[in-house]
Amino acid sequence: MFKFIKRNRNNDDKEIIELDYDRMPKHIAIIMDGNGRWAKERGLPRMMGHREGMKTIKKILDRSAHLGVKYLTLYAFSTENWNRPKDEVNALMNLIIEFAQKEGENLHKNNVKFNTIGDISKLPSNSLKAIKDLKELTKNNEGIVLNIALNYGGRNEIVYATKKICEKVCKGDINIEDINENLMSMNLYTKGMPDPDLIIRPSGEQRLSNYLLWQSAYSEFWYSNIKWPDFSERNLEKAIYDYQNRDRRFGKVKQ
Ligand code: FPP
Repeated sequence: MFKFIKRNRNNDDKEIIELDYDRMPKHIAIIMDGNGRWAKERGLPRMMGHREGMKTIKKILDRSAHLGVKYLTLYAFSTENWNRPKDEVNALMNLIIEFAQKEGENLHKNNVKFNTIGDISKLPSNSLKAIKDLKELTKNNEGIVLNIALNYGGRNEIVYATKKICEKVCKGDINIEDINENLMSMNLYTKGMPDPDLIIRPSGEQRLSNYLLWQSAYSEFWYSNIKWPDFSERNLEKAIYDYQNRDRRFGKVKQ
């Protein structure tokens, strides 16, 4: 049986969105873009945009969990973001600590499992500690998985997986014939997780920016001009609504 939730869109009482709880995307991935422009528009330092963007995480996580999404993956810091001004990089690293300290207990209380993807070993030691502590605190939680991409790059991830597989071949643990798509998936940072059904990019840009390159093979994409700090629960629901009205064929022909 289908259950529906009804919400108004754009504060317009005439327009109703109906979401089908039985066809929720299992995994939503978001490129949290537009923080800098959001701040600039208001004459604020870029960091204020990131700080406001951090508040959006909480709203979108809560609504995703409520809707029954199992994995929420958020692009917080890419392998290329190290090239930003030093002050901004440092501020982002400190924001991660602040997020873990302010939100940690709340995440745990709400049964959220905190996880990261990317090479976190390159993060400053205090950021790394905050991340490890939060992972430890929430490791047995069985609710939504909040996956934060940190020092993450899709190409870097494919190289990382390839090296791991080569090591196994060299050690004689596996043969070259054993290498297949499944083995590749099992050696990515997202090991054991379903591929993202839906990838959302706010702020008007329409590109993947080295995000989940392998995993996005059959993802549905959703773009919007809204900048991440302004992204609302309603925007999330609209993205899911549009997703549910797409025709996903995975290269097959509809019967
Ligand atoms: C992209 O916007 C955003 C980032 C590189 C950082 C995103 C980080 C957060 C939302 C907060 C930190 C996250 C955690 C988990 C604490 P941009 O700066 O490229 O925006 P612009 O394109 O408008 O300049």
